[in-house]
Amino acid sequence: MHPSLAQRQTHSLLNDTATCRRLEMNLRRNVEQDHTVMIDTCANTFRYEDCRDEYWNPEQYSLLWGTELWEQASAAQRIVLNQLYWVAYYAQIVSAEIATIFLNQVAAAGMYSFEDFRLVCDNLDVETKQERAHIAAFKKVGEEVEHTLFGKRLFTYPMRSLHEHTMVFADTNRARMLWRKLQLQSFMLLSSSNAFLGSQYLLIRGLRTLNGKLVQHQLGQFYRDHPDQARAPVPSAISWYHFLDESFHFHTSRVVGLDVPRSLPAPTAFERWVVNRGVAGCQRDHFNISVVVNGIFWYDPATFSAIYTLLRSSVFGMDHVQAMQMLAACFAKESDGLFSAERTHRTAADSYCASLEPVAYLDACNKEMRTMRSNSVERHLWHNRRALARFKAPSLQ
Ligand SMILES: [Fe+2]
Ligand SMILES: [Fe+2]
Repeated sequence: MHPSLAQRQTHSLLNDTATCRRLEMNLRRNVEQDHTVMIDTCANTFRYEDCRDEYWNPEQYSLLWGTELWEQASAAQRIVLNQLYWVAYYAQIVSAEIATIFLNQVAAAGMYSFEDFRLVCDNLDVETKQERAHIAAFKKVGEEVEHTLFGKRLFTYPMRSLHEHTMVFADTNRARMLWRKLQLQSFMLLSSSNAFLGSQYLLIRGLRTLNGKLVQHQLGQFYRDHPDQARAPVPSAISWYHFLDESFHFHTSRVVGLDVPRSLPAPTAFERWVVNRGVAGCQRDHFNISVVVNGIFWYDPATFSAIYTLLRSSVFGMDHVQAMQMLAACFAKESDGLFSAERTHRTAADSYCASLEPVAYLDACNKEMRTMRSNSVERHLWHNRRALARFKAPSLQ
């Protein structure tokens, strides 16, 4: 047999029948249960007026839950904080899914160059289409809420490319953004022609979405357990349908990231280095603890302007001095909200370690999530206090 033909057949995905069966079942069930039509219907029928007087998530999934602001808020203000958690949380998911749409295609291009990888690519194609519906629904709800409450954006943003920072509120500056862009472009260039790196994009995607799976499960339960689903708030239904679609995406990430590499040539030292860089980037992006949105690892000082604007809005009606005092009370002091956010962060690091356990080619810093675990309540408060001292309130014109 021609040597190149023999080698290609050695690395055919079809040789791994268990993995093929799992991918086939994942694709078939995702197509059968696809929630795109339901999510589109929710987006098209959403009217804030219809559900503005009720919670959309379990209570602890509220903006700044467990901080001074939450403790002092009236019942009506707590409802707004609960709804703004939804808006802010899914604004972050929009950013992550914009990146997913692009990188799914890049990874598929890399893997399709190997024998019999159509099944992997077909899974990714269906997911990409679903992400576009998810993004449209999150944007529709988030933008309508912010427009009604504030007449402007707080957490949402106009459609953008993945070259912006994936974390909507990140600890970054111009130089770091440029460096990130260069790394991302290098990874895209490499993985679009490299099947192993294409598969490892899915490993990193799985890691990045693991904490989201835990949070989105809780958000979805609110609708699933609602005593009268026909009257449940539309955003809660979106959370549930989205969680159901995402459980298939998550399964794809696991199978392609962990099992598919067995059908590929062993990674070179360079390829292993690139994957380690990718996991290290995830650790850095998930380094921060956020009391604003417990469940996302935003850099809280980057949210000060948005929170100040919220405090000065008609929802809370504070003057400048009251708003600045409230920022200090929420961000520079220990609170139930901070301890809860720190627990979320720790649980995430533990689950990342468990999910990477079978991966042989990661270094100890990545396997043990050392960067992510080096954050603490004390460090978080120290950074917040320093940032508050420098914070200049935005003009509200
Ligand atoms: Fe999604
Ligand atoms: Fe997804």
